[in-house]
Amino acid sequence: MTGMICGTGACVPERILDNSEIAEFVDTSDQWIRERTGVEQRRIAREETTVSMAAEAGRQAVEEAGISPEDIDMIITATATPDQIFPCTACEVQKELGAVRAVCFDMNAACSGFLFAYQTAQAYIASGICRNILITGSERLSGIVDWKDRGTCILFGDGAGAALIRAKEGKQYLPFACSDGTGGSALTCPGYAGKQDGDQKVISHISMDGREVFQFAVRRVPEAVREVLKKNDLKTEDIDWFVLHQANQRIVEAAAKRLKTEIKKFPMNLQKYGNTSSASIPILLNELNRSGKLKKGQKLILAGFGAGLSWGASVLEWGI
Ligand code: ACO
Repeated sequence: MTGMICGTGACVPERILDNSEIAEFVDTSDQWIRERTGVEQRRIAREETTVSMAAEAGRQAVEEAGISPEDIDMIITATATPDQIFPCTACEVQKELGAVRAVCFDMNAACSGFLFAYQTAQAYIASGICRNILITGSERLSGIVDWKDRGTCILFGDGAGAALIRAKEGKQYLPFACSDGTGGSALTCPGYAGKQDGDQKVISHISMDGREVFQFAVRRVPEAVREVLKKNDLKTEDIDWFVLHQANQRIVEAAAKRLKTEIKKFPMNLQKYGNTSSASIPILLNELNRSGKLKKGQKLILAGFGAGLSWGASVLEWGI
């Protein structure tokens, strides 16, 4: 028995903030941001909340899977930017969707959040405890970005993505995941409080040693991919798509190079959305799915990395 993704969804805010607009309030330029990160624009939440985006993405995933909300056994929402401390985002999503039977909880592993939620869902399915699990990654990072810090404010964006995972007959792939708390100071946000009405009360901001995070990612992502391939007796050539957390184009390119794999197998959409943390993998997955690029039976690797520090990868077979 394994968990197969049977539906995906995504929701991003309407408001587009492009690089030239950022250059109006910090000392930067469209060219610098494109060259160093690949980002051209990002979405910024106005009316949208972490809950509303997660619920909309979740609704789409459930609809595509062709199940009813009452069939969902569990909802896991990966987020580092909940609208409130509690009730958790996943319970709010449950309420919005009418998923009355679901057990709901949030998971905060920053940019690794969706990957770890995926791995957790697989474990619940492998144990026979659950059959249908909705996982969402949803972030409103614009609320914790320091808009005066050009080193970080250019990177991030808001949005949500979701996947509905169902128990099916099939191969259970082993996951790979790691954390290193001793490296945590490279990327921090010490405290945060928000309100759902958009009037966020921010008590601290994202602080990052960009170079250190860059080096961490470039080293750990290929390592995680190799580890998960080894665990499952697979080679890089067996993989059709490498769906990496969308932090920086240079990180994705460096990973492809280290893995000696063509860059065309590493899809990217960070140009449009920036780094949406836990939402980046499911937003990209949804885009690939809805545009028909993913074919049934293809093998994918999902790889996440981020604050903690934390990182990991999973292999999956596309089932839609
Ligand atoms: N515009 C213009 N100049 C800038 C900007 C900017 N937005 N930001 C920094 N600079 C300047 C710096 O002040 C520095 O100037 P100096 O040489 O006079 O001191 C110069 O550009 C070079 O700065 P670096 O920090 O060395 O630039 P780098 O090439 O490393 O790029 C960046 C910075 C884009 C942040 C890069 O380090 C990076 O992408 N790191 C990874 C960070 C990341 O992906 N974080 C996401 C969070 S991780 C995750 O998703 C979990």
